[in-house]
Amino acid sequence: MTSLIVDRLTKRYGSVLAVDGISFSVERDEFISLLGPSGCGKTTTLRCIAGFERPDGGAILLNGEPVADAATGFFRPPNKRHFGMVFQSYAVWPHMTVKENVAYPLKVQGGVPRAEMEARVADKLRIVGLVGYEERFPTQLSGGQQQRVALARALVMEPRALLFDEPLSNLDAKLRERMRFELIEIQSKLGIPAVYVTHDQAEAMVMSRTVIVMEKGRISQSGRPEEVYARPKSRFVADFIGLSNFVEGTVAGPAGDGNWLVRTPLGELVCCSDEPLAPGRAAVLAIRPECIRLQIERPSGPNVVPVTLKQRYFLGPYSEYFVAAGEIPLRVQASDPVEVAPGGTLFAAIDPERCRVLAGEASPEAAQEMAVRATHAADLAFRTPSVGLA
Ligand SMILES: Nc1ncnc2c1ncn2[C@@H]1O[C@H](COP(=O)(O)OP(=O)(O)OP(=O)(O)O)[C@@H](O)[C@H]1O
Ligand SMILES: [Mg+2]
Repeated sequence: MTSLIVDRLTKRYGSVLAVDGISFSVERDEFISLLGPSGCGKTTTLRCIAGFERPDGGAILLNGEPVADAATGFFRPPNKRHFGMVFQSYAVWPHMTVKENVAYPLKVQGGVPRAEMEARVADKLRIVGLVGYEERFPTQLSGGQQQRVALARALVMEPRALLFDEPLSNLDAKLRERMRFELIEIQSKLGIPAVYVTHDQAEAMVMSRTVIVMEKGRISQSGRPEEVYARPKSRFVADFIGLSNFVEGTVAGPAGDGNWLVRTPLGELVCCSDEPLAPGRAAVLAIRPECIRLQIERPSGPNVVPVTLKQRYFLGPYSEYFVAAGEIPLRVQASDPVEVAPGGTLFAAIDPERCRVLAGEASPEAAQEMAVRATHAADLAFRTPSVGLA
């Protein structure tokens, strides 16, 4: 059942169009993420939902009822929306104990009998795993524990939706990873919609049923994490979610089995596409580093490209290989070791099903822009590998 609806939401700050007419909906028990680079409008969207900002256009509905509607001027203030919000900075009161922090919203609201207040606070502390910490002050807690206090405080008002703005950003890597799973578990038990803002693509993919990728105040693509990862529509999305090699070329024609032949500087490659491709059309291919196999012997089959090994970096479960086909740099991730020294020749085999033509990058202007970016990428890739190929 759809619970939260954001309909053509627009928000301006002076001349800055922070949110540009975005629409999405969240099911009753769904966890969705707004993902995108700094300044793309994630926080602004969340603040409009929470009621800290007044939309300039569009509407926000909870369970079928508007909480804000720019067309009619209707605006319900934040304290009347019953949304729980958790921020990056824990914003817990340093002079109050854990118990007092969590009870605070109930005290402000007033009219809740003491026994009920105690019971509700105890229940929320149990949900977030802080039983036994009731009398501690925030300075006596770790970052993760403080964030759980903030979450318990958001839950104590029995919110109808949960809104998170980068809540794990201040935690160290290990704790952050563990807290992801804890948050999902807590939300699934509560059965309320959750909107989670992050610029961390791994966090968004692990936690959400739906990922909404934003760019410059708009939605670039949304869908299940697997779908967005495997079928990015644009270079921006392919680049932002995971890593990708981008190769530009020109469509030669159909290649059978629903695939397409694209002429590229790597040779003619058999590729897949979500849409039919006219011969002669410019195309940009996205190839994930894990979709390229490196072999010492030339394998049979399509999409085999001779490459030179430039660098190899061992990362434990897999290795990163920076190779070059002539002037074109490629990044490869493989778990099987390839025993060749830098400077040696290898064969890169690209799976046609994972060699995707990006639907949103077809125009001559886009191709032109790509050519410029590809030149930059090639230029940068071997000097600073992590920059060149994102
Ligand atoms: N109060 C404000 N006044 C003026 N401009 C603002 C205000 N708040 C946000 N903006 C601008 O609106 C745009 C979107 O900002 P927003 O905070 O929503 O981005 P974000 O996606 O949350 O970024 P980050 O990942 O850095 O938190 C940015 O260009 C920002 O500078
Ligand atoms: Mg933000």
